[in-house]
Amino acid sequence: MREAPIGVFDSGVGGLSVLAEIQRLLPNESLLYFADCGHIPYGEKTPEFIRQRCNVMAGFFREQGAKALVVACNTATVAAVADLRRDFPDWPIVGMEPAVKPAAAATRSGVVGVLATTGTLQSAKFAALLDRFATDVRVITQPCPGLVELIESGDLHSAELRTLLQGYVDPLLASGCDTIILGCTHYPFLKPMLASMIPETISLIDTGAAVARQLQRLLAERDLLAAGPDRPVRFWTSGDAKHFSQTLPLLGQTAFDVQKFSL
Ligand code: DGL
Repeated sequence: MREAPIGVFDSGVGGLSVLAEIQRLLPNESLLYFADCGHIPYGEKTPEFIRQRCNVMAGFFREQGAKALVVACNTATVAAVADLRRDFPDWPIVGMEPAVKPAAAATRSGVVGVLATTGTLQSAKFAALLDRFATDVRVITQPCPGLVELIESGDLHSAELRTLLQGYVDPLLASGCDTIILGCTHYPFLKPMLASMIPETISLIDTGAAVARQLQRLLAERDLLAAGPDRPVRFWTSGDAKHFSQTLPLLGQTAFDVQKFSL
């Protein structure tokens, strides 16, 4: 069982920002990645629809013999992680959460900005996160429709992307925030562009590395850490496999094995 793979999924390429952190921390693990590109963006879908998709992908990873599951998507986590944990109680499941707690601890100006999808920002889980950790700070939330689609197309640099992103960042800058939470797993790929838009005094926080550490803890507790050797990631997508393999190298991955799978 220790050498069994770990299933990681997202609505598309965003979860690759989390996958990279898992690869860094746990190089001996064998990883499976499912990109639900045929149904992107999750950010504008109903929680019910997302729950169904998550259930199907979790079932797929069970069939692949996965020993753990990583929901590498904030929008899917708020909609579905509770149901997944209920339906698969014997499985270590790690979800994403916008970094409200570390941001509230880090801010000196007392103002924190959050970039995330509409679905994440409107969720009860996000409201509960604010109630729990952000009572002493001002939190400015900014939904970002359209960003995910551009990143999915492989665009990290265009003028169109810059204009869209600038429009989302400006209200946060105007609010006096010194900390910006990247509350969607696609957004860490925009760090270079974001860095050119904000003063150096503003920090960008995401939770990819924390999720990798949590996965490591859960596996260690159950004596499930693999001894290796490291193997290439296996990828599936419900979208266009050729486009997905072409996008992978732009986002730091090697396209070794990508299969189309219409779940
Ligand atoms: N990557 C996902 C997240 O972390 C959302 C992308 C989407 O809207 O599909 O929220």
